[in-house]
Amino acid sequence: MGGEAEKWVLMVTARTPTNIAVIKYWGKRDETLILPINDSISVTLDPSHLCTTTTVSVSPSFDQDRMWLNGKEISLQGGRFQSCLREIRARAQDVEDKKKGIKINKEDWQKLNLHIASYNNFPTAAGLASSAAGLACLVFSLAKLMNLKEDNSQLSAIARQGSGSACRSLYGGFVKWCMGKEENGSDSLAVQLADEKHWDELVIIIAVVSAQQKETSSTSGMRDTVETSALIEHRAKEVVPKRITEMEGAIQNRDFATFTRLACTDSNQFHAVCLDTYPPIFYMNDTSHRIISCVEKWNRAEETPQVAYTFDAGPNAVMIARNRKTAALLLQRLLYNFPPQSDTDLDSYIIGDKSILQDAGIKDMKDVEALTAPPEVKDKIPTEKSKGDVSYFICTRPGGGPVVLSDETHALLNPLTGLPK
Ligand code: ADE
Repeated sequence: MGGEAEKWVLMVTARTPTNIAVIKYWGKRDETLILPINDSISVTLDPSHLCTTTTVSVSPSFDQDRMWLNGKEISLQGGRFQSCLREIRARAQDVEDKKKGIKINKEDWQKLNLHIASYNNFPTAAGLASSAAGLACLVFSLAKLMNLKEDNSQLSAIARQGSGSACRSLYGGFVKWCMGKEENGSDSLAVQLADEKHWDELVIIIAVVSAQQKETSSTSGMRDTVETSALIEHRAKEVVPKRITEMEGAIQNRDFATFTRLACTDSNQFHAVCLDTYPPIFYMNDTSHRIISCVEKWNRAEETPQVAYTFDAGPNAVMIARNRKTAALLLQRLLYNFPPQSDTDLDSYIIGDKSILQDAGIKDMKDVEALTAPPEVKDKIPTEKSKGDVSYFICTRPGGGPVVLSDETHALLNPLTGLPK
């Protein structure tokens, strides 16, 4: 190994995005390897608004593997972390840092311990796929530290064993998780369909919906669906394969009408199989349903759809607008229907890319109060408005894949001690 008095610490820091599926993953054929029953397709979200940053480090002075998440030490004993660590260590290569006088032979990685610190730039409990970004970042940063030869697609098959949807966070833009056929899962991995520049007009607005009850975890929800739903097999075998082909075409051709029809119907079918599970699983709530009505009414009133919506295993709405102009009109509708509570300031109610707010002509709360009902609901009974149903909105766009960051400015661990800064 080398290095003076074995005091050295070697580290890598990386940043990885989260992603939202527009053709959903729901149901496993192998629980340990995390192998799905159908392909899925996602859009990667801009990491400047939603991402995980992780620093991984190694030193002969560390006496066990340790991890800190958002500043608090967490256990690495769970099977998902252990699978990723085992798979990465098995592929580790020789590493040499001549400046620091460090040489690690590939066999050494089995004995050396790791310190890992990870930080999500968004609330971990908000139901925004933090484990997808988190596990992807863990695998990506460890692969860089240990000098793995595998490409991002091969790394995605490792990240998949930590959290299924994490495999799609190894790429930016538009990503397909191929379910694969092999029993060992070697062909269940992510491929990039198009990068984030391919369709850069799209704007994404996420409504973080206040949830009262604790939701069913995806793991147990999927298991219950596969065991009890009469519809899930039809979805996985008949519906999704056709939608995957169509969605690939819609993305390639930037065909927003087809993209919207597929994203909305697929989200709705995913929630239908949840309802078809026994006992039934309810992920969406009244606020989620009101958001769907608002978007559907508007899309129907226009010649061509303006906004796609999709909901994961929780009440948050992810809305994808055709372009910036549509996004501004969407934000006006959302703020009209879901105004902030009186003690919330606009600056913390709309976060991320605030330029959409400017495009919507909204500078302050007075402008929000002055919003009138959009034309598609004119002359109808006013919709019920209750403040506080949405905690906040995030304005973002499709974004890029994982990147290595400079340790000087971004490392979460002290370079001398390997402990959190
Ligand atoms: N779960 C949620 N966020 C995570 C992170 N950043 N790393 C690992 N697991 C996570």
